[in-house]
Amino acid sequence: MNWFTNKKALVTGAGSGIGKALATALASRGCDLFLAGRDLEKLRAAGTVMEEMGAKATCHQIDISRDSQIKELGKHLSKSIDHLDILIHSAGLFHMGRLGSAPVKLFDLQYKTNVRGPYLLTQILLPLLKKSQMGQVVFINSTAGLRAPAGVSQYAATKHALTALAESFRQEVNKEGIRVLSVFPGRTASPMQKRIFDLEGRVYRPELLLQPGDVAETVLNALSLPSTAEVTDISIRPFSKTY
Ligand SMILES: NC(=O)c1ccc[n+]([C@@H]2O[C@H](COP(=O)([O-])OP(=O)(O)OC[C@H]3O[C@@H](n4cnc5c(N)ncnc54)[C@H](OP(=O)(O)O)[C@@H]3O)[C@@H](O)[C@H]2O)c1
Repeated sequence: MNWFTNKKALVTGAGSGIGKALATALASRGCDLFLAGRDLEKLRAAGTVMEEMGAKATCHQIDISRDSQIKELGKHLSKSIDHLDILIHSAGLFHMGRLGSAPVKLFDLQYKTNVRGPYLLTQILLPLLKKSQMGQVVFINSTAGLRAPAGVSQYAATKHALTALAESFRQEVNKEGIRVLSVFPGRTASPMQKRIFDLEGRVYRPELLLQPGDVAETVLNALSLPSTAEVTDISIRPFSKTY
């Protein structure tokens, strides 16, 4: 038995990268997993590995930029479970482009995926989180939620909004026994980061970057702290002599 045994956790973006590493780490410690994302094949492949570890993993195909699909998932979970212990928002969308030329349509899509979707999903699942002994909500943010370099104004604006959302939400729900954690990873080896290196015209060397498992282990340490402590923000960077 450990802190995670038989806890119920929903992870969005669980089919790849940081979300998959988080879900796998939770499964390895005995959590029951709800895996959410658009690509059912990827979710099922991840879920199969988790079931081989002895965990329960159910897959939910959902586009987090669509309200109706979020509501559908909320309805389904409210019928099938009586509480939720951990909600991790890892689904995210990145587009690069300068303000002078980046299409506003892409801004809207990043806003829907990175801010509005997590907001609505959290709102819908809040009653289930309140029924946990100690509900915990994790927002996988980004260094772009703290700073805004050139060429990423849209993405950085959505991640700054997520920083604000988490901070305000924490002050609303701490009194109800819910902990809220924002995670600000630097460049992490994942399909998203590979695409960013390609866009930048740089050679992608994932071994020099932060690993999704590094982020997962750090988050799980924070989640399993005693109820007298809350980690509110984690900044985590790649560490390499040659990075
Ligand atoms: N990699 C980095 O360097 C880095 C650094 C800082 C922060 N982050 C953040 O970390 C989080 C995870 O990214 P990652 O690096 O692990 O990249 P990733 O492997 O590409 O993961 C992104 C996930 O988001 C899901 N997703 C995207 N749009 C979605 C939508 N509309 N509805 C549902 N799911 C959606 C994708 O799943 P489907 O394809 O199945 O939809 C995918 O599994 C993101 O929030 C990202 O902003 C990443």
